Amino acid sequence: MKAVGLYRYLPISDEASLIDVEMPLPAPRKHDLLVKIAAVSVNPVDTKLRAPKSQVEKEPKILGFDAVGTVEAIGGGVSLFQIGEEVYFAGDVTRQGSNGEYALIDERLAGHKPKNLTNQEAAAMPLTTITAFEALFDRLQVEAGKSILIINGAGGVGSVSTQLAKIAGLTVISTASREETIAWTKAHGADFVINHRANMLEELQKVGFQMVDYILCLHDTYQHFNFMEQAIAPQGKICSIVELTQPVQMSVLKDKSATFSYEFMFTRSKYQTKDQMRQHEILEQAAIYLETGQLKSTLNKVLAPINAKTLRKAHQIIEEGHMVGKLVVEGFDYDDR
Ligand SMILES: NC(=O)c1ccc[n+]([C@@H]2O[C@H](COP(=O)([O-])OP(=O)(O)OC[C@H]3O[C@@H](n4cnc5c(N)ncnc54)[C@H](OP(=O)(O)O)[C@@H]3O)[C@@H](O)[C@H]2O)c1
Repeated sequence: MKAVGLYRYLPISDEASLIDVEMPLPAPRKHDLLVKIAAVSVNPVDTKLRAPKSQVEKEPKILGFDAVGTVEAIGGGVSLFQIGEEVYFAGDVTRQGSNGEYALIDERLAGHKPKNLTNQEAAAMPLTTITAFEALFDRLQVEAGKSILIINGAGGVGSVSTQLAKIAGLTVISTASREETIAWTKAHGADFVINHRANMLEELQKVGFQMVDYILCLHDTYQHFNFMEQAIAPQGKICSIVELTQPVQMSVLKDKSATFSYEFMFTRSKYQTKDQMRQHEILEQAAIYLETGQLKSTLNKVLAPINAKTLRKAHQIIEEGHMVGKLVVEGFDYDDR
């Protein structure tokens, strides 16, 4: 099968950073679906995993996590899906990814593709939706009627988190810094938008809040940590999805009996936790929200076809850090190689 992979971890400006490769068709294990890929989305995790380092792979490493496609074969233990069904999923960092004509996914990590969405619209959703669901409902365990601040409202995860927080009955303050991202964040349901490049405490006060019950940090945790300690309400909860790059002092959180937690959407699959099925349930629930119009696809940009040249372009866009919503790459067509 055709796929896009890498042997060496190089800057995206290097043509060898992502290359077109031929791979054997993978064989499904007990709980696996073999999915014929129609479209994929590129996330910061793709660019972080591809980032330059000295390691060299013996076999091509296939990146790509978000995908939509059709089930072509199933393992002996599969009970949630049938051959021919359309699925969407966010992958598993421990396995080969979705940037190929076919990919394997454990059925417990996949959902039925929302019926009303195109392949492009559906491919935009799984990774950010699972992250937002897990952060809001499994880590923060949000309660209706409370307030939440979402740092980075217009990015992939922020665009879904803002919508889900509204579905959960919260007052939502999201951050954005440019005209385009402010408009996008408002369009996705934020009650208030404040600027993450200005003094955030002052920004929060301007929209009527001294402190908030929850903070969801979807950008550099170190950069925003002091602000979050000050802005979190006593007994409030902070969840971040971005690793700390430097140590921080957590003493203020002790004084406020505040909670700090992390969310990593690959934890369940990486550690094979007993509740991996939660990701299937999240994608099925999200499909209902999408089909009933409560949740909108966050698709904002489409590139084609799926090959190394297009994926290098997609990685470059994501690395620039100004993405609004999601970027999807659709279809295999190797004629322009
Ligand atoms: N733990 C997990 O499971 C998980 C899952 C998904 C993503 N992540 C991580 O979460 C982060 C966000 O992912 P994403 O896909 O949502 O990102 P993204 O779509 O690439 O985010 C782009 C957005 O970042 C905003 N931004 C730039 N500077 C900012 C700042 N100083 N403070 C706040 N926002 C700023 C930009 O808004 P403006 O242009 O308005 O400034 C832009 O709209 C990434 O680091 C990613 O690796 C973690």
